[in-house]
Parts: sequence; C-alpha cells; structure tokens
Amino acid sequence: MPLDIVIGAQWGDEGKGRMVDLLASQADYVARYNGGDNAGHTVTVGEQTFKLHLIPSGIIHSHTIGVLGSGMVVNPATLLEEMERLRAADVEITPRRLRIAFGAHLITPAHRALDAAQEAARGKGKIGTTLRGIGPAYTDKVSRHGLRAEIFLDPASLPEKVEAHLARANRLLTRLYTAEPLDPAPIVEQFRAYAETLRPYIGDISSLLHTALRKGKRVLAEGAQGTLLDLDQGTYPFVTSSTPIAPGALTGLGLGVGCVGRVIGVTKAFQTRVGAGPFPTEVEDSTAEHLRGTGANPWDEFGTTTGRPRRVGWLDLVLLRYALRVNGVTELALTKLDVLSGLERIRLCTAYRRDGETFTDLPFGPGSLEGFEPVYQDFPGWQEDLRAARRWEDLPDAACDYILHIEDQMGVPVTLVSVGPEREQVVEIV
Ligand code: IMP
Repeated sequence: MPLDIVIGAQWGDEGKGRMVDLLASQADYVARYNGGDNAGHTVTVGEQTFKLHLIPSGIIHSHTIGVLGSGMVVNPATLLEEMERLRAADVEITPRRLRIAFGAHLITPAHRALDAAQEAARGKGKIGTTLRGIGPAYTDKVSRHGLRAEIFLDPASLPEKVEAHLARANRLLTRLYTAEPLDPAPIVEQFRAYAETLRPYIGDISSLLHTALRKGKRVLAEGAQGTLLDLDQGTYPFVTSSTPIAPGALTGLGLGVGCVGRVIGVTKAFQTRVGAGPFPTEVEDSTAEHLRGTGANPWDEFGTTTGRPRRVGWLDLVLLRYALRVNGVTELALTKLDVLSGLERIRLCTAYRRDGETFTDLPFGPGSLEGFEPVYQDFPGWQEDLRAARRWEDLPDAACDYILHIEDQMGVPVTLVSVGPEREQVVEIV
C-alpha cells in the first residue's frame, strides 16, 4: 500500500489540517515530515477546535499512529504542551500512539533568541519569520552542530551536548548580534527533564514506516507550510528553512521513492501569504476584507501561530502550475470555496505579462516575481451560501464553472472542496 502525501500548493495556510483530518480516516499512520512549531493546523470537530503545531492533525482519529519525522525541528516545550492539550481533549497520547524520529532536530531557547536577533539585524530585509527558532535550528543541522532527539536517549552525555550548543549560541548572540547571552544552567535542567518524559517516544521512524508499508498499511504524510515557502523551490529568500514539497516526505521520513501513491495538493480557492515577499495577485481593497474576514472566527485569515493578518489575493494559476510540477501533484483539494460567496466578480490569474510578453509558466522560478503583471480571467460570482453543500450537484453553476476552469488549466482533477471549517463541510467529487 502506498504512501500518500498531502502538500500545501501555495504559501502555507491552505487548510491542509482539515484535509488531512478527512484523509486520515483511511490511514493507519499520519506523519509530519518537515518544519516545526512555525506551522499551525486547525481542525474543527463538533464543538472542539484543535490547533496543532507539531503533532500531525490525523492523530485526532483514535485509530492512527502519529509520527514526527527526522525532517522536522522539534521544540520540546511546545511538543509537551501540545501533548497535554490533546490529552485534556481525550486524545490518547502515549508512546504507542506517538513516535518521534531519533534524527529529528531539537529547537532550544537559543535558537529562538538567534531567530529574533537575526530578524532584527536584517532591518528592512526582514523575512517576517515566525520567531520560533526554525532557521537557526536548521542552520545548526546543516552546519553539523545540531542537537537531535537521540540525545534524550543518553542522559549521561546530554548536559555536555546542551552546554556546548549554548556556549556556541551565546558567542553568536553576544559577538555577532550584541544580544544578551542565555544562562545555560536552567536550560540544561529543562532538557534533562524533557529527556525523562520524551525518551519512550523516540525511535526509528524510517524502519517503522517501511515495515508498515510492506505490511500493506496506509501512511499519510502531512506537509507543513507550502510549496512557495520551500527552501529550494520557493520564493527565496522569503522562505522557510525546510522542504515542504512532496519529495521532502521521503527524505524527512526515511523512505525510498518507489512507495508514493497519491500526491494531494491543497490550495485555497484564493491566495494568502504571511510575512514579507512578492505576491503578484495581492488585493488590498474591500475584496481583501471579504477574503480575510474580521478575525472573529478561528478560520479567518489571521495566522494560527502568530495571529498576524494574512495578505490576501486572487488564485494564481501560474504559481499553482509551478506547484503541480515541483510536487508531482496528482489531484487538487480546494479549500474555503464558501468564502467566495457574495462577491460580484471572481478573478483567476491565468498568466503573467511583462514587457509585452505573456508567461503561463515562471521564466525564472518563483524567486523572481517582481515586475510581473497578472493576467486575469473574470468569472461572475455567486450569492448562494455554500456551507451546506455536500455534493457537486449542491454547488451553484458559477462555482462549478470556476472549479472546472481550474481543473482544465491544471490538468489534474479537483477531488475535494471544503465549504466550511467543520469536518463534514466537504464536497467529495467522484
Ligand atoms: P520561519 O519558518 O519561521 O523561518 O519563517 C519563514 C517564512 O515562512 C515567513 O514568511 C513565515 O511567515 C512563513 N511561514 C512559516 N511557517 C508558516 C506557516 O505554517 N504558514 C504560513 N507561513 C509560514
């Protein structure tokens, strides 16, 4: 049985959590493969809204086993808080149900301090990071100075390793950034305590999933962030430091290329972005307020992790086409179609224009989006409330027309459409 991968096809925040929740009902294992607590996945089940930052959203189904892969950077403090919150909501969190790769890297308070110092030093060139220490933790990984979860397996050598890490980070903080150094003693003590609690959860994820796949079990890989935030293939330098695209699921979980089945690209019916960087289809008028919402609802366009209002715009098919290519997307899941209800006109960016030339593909990748004018195809909007739609036939003609145009231009089917935050507010297109 193959590995199915759910990826964000835009700049993150596509609503992957709720799609994963839906797909996880058919999965045995749900696995996060990249990023850390910069992610925020919201899943609403009845009266309960779960906001998950590290643990895969599919854990909410009681039959699944949740996995944190070695492609992740894990802040133990956030992880323990999240484990407690889930337990309080009656979700079983035990070493039987949650496994952490020994090769996952740990985020420490020093990584957070460095993230803040680096952002401050960037001045006008700020990336607008989530300040969760993501970049510095991956920097340590790549420079071979990182602390991996496996340090929790050997309590005797842990203090020395954490102290060496803090000494190095303090040198950077004080000499490079003139920031305050951190006091190592309480942090070492904290990490000793984390080790005691988390030790039973740590194991060999690659072997676990490989064996499961060989036995015909179903594994659902859950990407965090989105394609355009990918370190290699995103809008560099305004990216995160991990690999959100589908190939990241293989390196981040320790699986070979032969096992991939479906690659489900999740995209909003419009476009959003948090943080700095180019955004060709951005809108700032009353349409922006319509798309963003007021912040009164947890699903309005305000960051789950940071609370920042998201930048909003029209769906950009040039970027989506690119996302399909670098992920190998086999089908699309379209989220938040209900938000478009009530607009007179809906715009779809089908191409870019620059210096009289038209581009349907990115000539220099998504890192150089400056100077392109979007070419729009306009659609009549619809006034109907879509939140009760459950079948294709329930959608107004104008909404069907919009979806069919996306399918036509992208060359892959749209198989799922969400029309509200609740678990059952989904139209499955068969
Ligand atoms: P970092 O991942 O905290 O280093 O932030 C790098 C960039 O990625 C910033 O523009 C963030 O706003 C963005 N980012 C990181 N995680 C997410 C996410 O889960 N959703 C949307 N944007 C994100």
